[in-house]
Amino acid sequence: MQEILNELEARRQSARAGGGAKRVEAQHAKGKLTARERLEVLLDEGSFEEWDMFVEHRSVEFGMEAQKVPGDGVVTGWGTINGRLVFVYSQDFTVFGGSLSEAHAEKICKIMDQAMKVGAPVIGLNDSGGARIQEGVASLAGYAEVFQRNVLASGVVPQISLVMGPCAGGAVYSPAMTDFIFMVKDSSYMFVTGPDVVKTVTHEIVTAEDLGGAATHTQKSGVADLAFDNDVEALLQTRRFFDFLPVSNKAGVPQRPTQDAADRLEPSLDTLIPDNPNKPYDMHEAILKIVDDGDFFEIQPDNAKNIVVGFGRIEGATVGFVANQPMVLAGCLDIAASIKAARFVRFCDCFGIPLVTLVDVPGFMPGTAQEYGGIIKHGAKLLYAYAEATVPKVTLITRKAYGGAYDVMASKHLRGDLNYAWPAAEIAVMGPKGAVEIIFRADMGDPAKIEARTNEYRKRFANPFVAASRGFIDDVIMPAATRPRLARALAMLRTKKLENPWKKHGNIPL
Ligand code: HXC
Repeated sequence: MQEILNELEARRQSARAGGGAKRVEAQHAKGKLTARERLEVLLDEGSFEEWDMFVEHRSVEFGMEAQKVPGDGVVTGWGTINGRLVFVYSQDFTVFGGSLSEAHAEKICKIMDQAMKVGAPVIGLNDSGGARIQEGVASLAGYAEVFQRNVLASGVVPQISLVMGPCAGGAVYSPAMTDFIFMVKDSSYMFVTGPDVVKTVTHEIVTAEDLGGAATHTQKSGVADLAFDNDVEALLQTRRFFDFLPVSNKAGVPQRPTQDAADRLEPSLDTLIPDNPNKPYDMHEAILKIVDDGDFFEIQPDNAKNIVVGFGRIEGATVGFVANQPMVLAGCLDIAASIKAARFVRFCDCFGIPLVTLVDVPGFMPGTAQEYGGIIKHGAKLLYAYAEATVPKVTLITRKAYGGAYDVMASKHLRGDLNYAWPAAEIAVMGPKGAVEIIFRADMGDPAKIEARTNEYRKRFANPFVAASRGFIDDVIMPAATRPRLARALAMLRTKKLENPWKKHGNIPL
């Protein structure tokens, strides 16, 4: 018996050793943790149960039959984060560069299938050279099996990808189909083809960092949601993030105890809006003062900063916030902001997370760059996402709500459940100046007349009461009372039931 036990231990040791001490050293020298070390940080202590530790690849090409490492370059299994179940895979770069073989893919698919059956999120720690070159089409098939599961799991269980090393080729497309992508600065890259191929095909000379580093994807492409300084920070923040998420589309939002009273008044909000309607203010301040304990987890903070999206809690329950940011582009909706917010709204709707929308929007961004880039189609994504969403929708117009953007931002007409406005709100087709220049063009030569017309327009339309008199705004509330009013609204909406007409799926303007 002892012999059998010794053999088991020896086999486990061999699997734990991954690609060997030298490669582990190289991994550490790059400032990266190993696959198993990462799981230790991510999961609750002692909670990880590993599956398929003894799986090996079946390739016999290029001398591969002589090179087998138990586990085949990916550590898979399940554990808990603050007591809640999660399935994980963690690619081991020290074993064939974390490349994906047929067997490696089967391991990932196994945990994804189980996660779907029990209703638990999947977190993938990606560190991979892509398809295992020695395996050819078998590894491509393996990728497609993973992709298929990413799609089937989408909207059923949350899927989070941490990109913690090079991810090339197939290795980027699985993360791309998950709900959130987090990267690590200076040690993670995502690209369809690397700098060498780019040089050959387009003659561009670009570094891996510029082509697909964390800054590129969180600031320019919008592919990734967040960038962290190192592995440990990325993993610890993922734990914090995980606490906001429902475990599945049937589980409901998690509830966390809080000492922050739901009826807390916040007098400083009464003076947040500057007297001059053209002066910006920081919408983050409003969010931080509304949420429990000032705890807000922002998504894509470095991309499309003219809109803020992220998770907070009210009365301990997760809420998705979408808010125009007057500090950037005056809070206009442009292509990037529309895409960013639409995806966020759809995530919340998939998983039953109520939406709170804070509106201060002067309209859609004008210009050739936006029109040629397809603002019509991309803006429609946000419109579609809000109109399709059946989760509780509470909207607060803090200041401007002009034109089509008024309609888009979870207005009453898109089945907003409760639509509030602060007293300084201006709800109109456009701002007073622009409106007067169009409808009183004949008076343009007479500044006094124009000023009088502008004042008249402002008095008539630049307030919340015209909309309130039609019932498009349910109530005009004091800024200081925003948190209590939102808390009451969300509590009332907890049992909301609304279904869209049956369809195979809608056709969102992609
Ligand atoms: C097999 C691989 C591998 C791969 C790396 N290795 N990528 N083995 N298949 N795809 C192995 C190396 O041979 C090496 O083995 C070890 O991993 C570490 O690789 P290095 O090159 O020494 O590391 P580094 O310098 O850090 O470079 C990492 C890298 C580079 C940028 C990822 O290895 C690379 O460019 N790899 C190929 C990337 C690629 O083109 N993949 C295929 C994409 S096509 P030893 O034994 O020396 O430690 C694809 C198609 C899917 O994925 C499409 C689906 C839609």
